[in-house]
Amino acid sequence: MAETLSDAVARRRTFAIIAHPDAGKTTLTEKLLLFGGAIQLAGEVKAKKDRIQTRSDWMKIERERGISVVTSVMTFEYGDHVFNLLDTPGHEDFADDTYRTLTAVDAAVMVLDAARGIEPRTLKLFEVCRLRDIPIITFVNKLDRESRNPFEILDEIEEKLALDTAPITWPIGLGKNFSGTYHLKHNTVRRSDADVEPIAVNGPEADNVAGLLPEYQREAFIEEVNLAREACRPFDMESFREGHLTPVYFGSALRNFGVRDLIEAIGDWAPVPRAQEGDSRKVEATEEKMTSFVFKIQANMDPNHRDRIAFVRVCSGRLQRGMKAKLVRTGKQISLTAPQFFFARNRITADEAVAGDVVGIPNHGTLRIGDTLTEGEDILFRGVPNFAPEILRRVRLSDAMKAKKLREALQQMAEEGVVQLFSPEDGSPAIVGVVGALQLDVLKERLKMEYTLPVDFEISRFSICRWISSDTKGEVDKFIAAHRGDIARDLDDDPVYLAQHQFGLNYEAERWKDIRFTAVKDYQ
Ligand code: G4P
Repeated sequence: MAETLSDAVARRRTFAIIAHPDAGKTTLTEKLLLFGGAIQLAGEVKAKKDRIQTRSDWMKIERERGISVVTSVMTFEYGDHVFNLLDTPGHEDFADDTYRTLTAVDAAVMVLDAARGIEPRTLKLFEVCRLRDIPIITFVNKLDRESRNPFEILDEIEEKLALDTAPITWPIGLGKNFSGTYHLKHNTVRRSDADVEPIAVNGPEADNVAGLLPEYQREAFIEEVNLAREACRPFDMESFREGHLTPVYFGSALRNFGVRDLIEAIGDWAPVPRAQEGDSRKVEATEEKMTSFVFKIQANMDPNHRDRIAFVRVCSGRLQRGMKAKLVRTGKQISLTAPQFFFARNRITADEAVAGDVVGIPNHGTLRIGDTLTEGEDILFRGVPNFAPEILRRVRLSDAMKAKKLREALQQMAEEGVVQLFSPEDGSPAIVGVVGALQLDVLKERLKMEYTLPVDFEISRFSICRWISSDTKGEVDKFIAAHRGDIARDLDDDPVYLAQHQFGLNYEAERWKDIRFTAVKDYQ
């Protein structure tokens, strides 16, 4: 019998991993996929990161720098659940990409290095999750190495993130004596992830728990477990779902400890696909009619085909191959002839996707970040953010004959979210804006490779960019008229004020009290 929509939705868990670089995100991803049967051999994701000719490093710059620039999605099944893992670029210069991806998940796994605890990028990404009320499951990694005491790590999470912690498992030994994970509540143990099912035991003193440790460490371990049970907070579902509490797991992704505990936790606790806030109403995940939004555009994933894929998060209904959908921004119908699911290595054609799933839709520039697709309803999902760029540059072209081609190329890159493009009101050449400097390198490389446009960047006299709006009618027009040389339009024709420095921005904000100067704009 075909699965009902609500059963299919209830099986989905859509999440991302947030981590400071080197904490073990890639290794953990690989193990999740391995245990989920999506890849055959450990090492494939790693190889992807380090070596040539894989889907995610189609670009030379990625290969040279060994960083993963693009965001991708990986689907795997484990037990009764279907997991959609949305990968995010680790490098902070691509932070806006990561933030957009976080709009498409229902939960996040925070990976910490057991010796380093909370690091700067963990903190930043955590703050984004908190803003969006994304529940977080913590995985403390690298327990097989010299690490901090688990209580110290819990304290640090509580203090630095103002987040309650509830340890669910406890490490049996640390460093070279790390011998497994003990479930504090269930009284079960996994000596490694080779134990597919946890083994029931009589308590921490049991031979198959404390007995795994050298004799001199047993007593201390039993005391720790008892203390953890008495002194630590119990898990509370409501508090977790509201983002106030994180369940904590311990393990070693590299040595196969704690990964199965974590997958089960995501299955058991991470929320089912959430209802999505539209501009006119809230859309429930189990509604029959399909709705979805684009959170990411990626071009040229396959260098042999110049293609452009829009990553779409399904919010409700069934997105079916061959169906027609309304692109609400333009009111036009588009045909979803070849939606794709992404497994670790392959793309396969998707017949049907439900809420929580992420599907790739090949297109030639019809779809933009933030677009909503529906079966006819005029509703817009908001909240895919656009961050004010921190670096503004003019693009200098050596061959003036190619100005038109450059304009088109920049427009396409801006639609993909690689850069932001601003057209000054006074008719001067366009300004590109990025959040991190590496994005400029990506732009330069891609203009050269894909459009044969060698370019350089010139410092612009502006350093700050803010969207302007007002509740007072006519105020924005007045402001624009008074600052014509410092106004530009973004891709959607919305006006921005360009300031030379913070002082200038503060001065104008002081003088124009009815104007809002904002650093974040929701798409649409
Ligand atoms: P990232 O994606 O978060 O940047 O981290 P990644 O998985 O690449 O891991 C960073 C380094 O930490 C890698 O070592 C990886 O092997 C190691 N690592 C990950 N998980 C564990 C763990 O549980 N225990 C230990 N001991 N190490 C772990 P590397 O030396 O940078 O790379 P490689 O030479 O091993 O490929």
